[in-house]
Amino acid sequence: MNPILSVEGVTAGYGRVTVLHDISLEAGRFGNVGLFGPNGHGKTTLLRAVSGLLQPKSGRILFDGQDIAGRSARAIVGAGLIHV
Ligand SMILES: Nc1ncnc2c1ncn2[C@@H]1O[C@H](COP(=O)(O)OP(=O)(O)O)[C@@H](O)[C@H]1O
Ligand SMILES: [Mg+2]
Repeated sequence: MNPILSVEGVTAGYGRVTVLHDISLEAGRFGNVGLFGPNGHGKTTLLRAVSGLLQPKSGRILFDGQDIAGRSARAIVGAGLIHV
């Protein structure tokens, strides 16, 4: 089955500092996906990019078949993806 969320080659960061370098992952429609790593390694930055709080520099973020990369947080919530 197609994943509900696909992160494809996302690069993102803050100003001139790049934190995420070409990150990809998939989450299925059912089940759970864990994202683990030491403090300061970009977990929150990835979630911010997915939820529209941070604009990725490049890459695609597909949610339910639509590319949501760079859309506003409001639009992404409206599409049904909620960052808690
Ligand atoms: N608002 C910000 N401005 C500049 N750098 C930031 C900001 N937020 C996080 N960072 C930096 O981005 C890197 C990843 O942080 P973060 O995504 O919060 O990591 P994690 O959630 O894995 O602990 C760290 O080096 C952190 O200092
Ligand atoms: Mg964090």
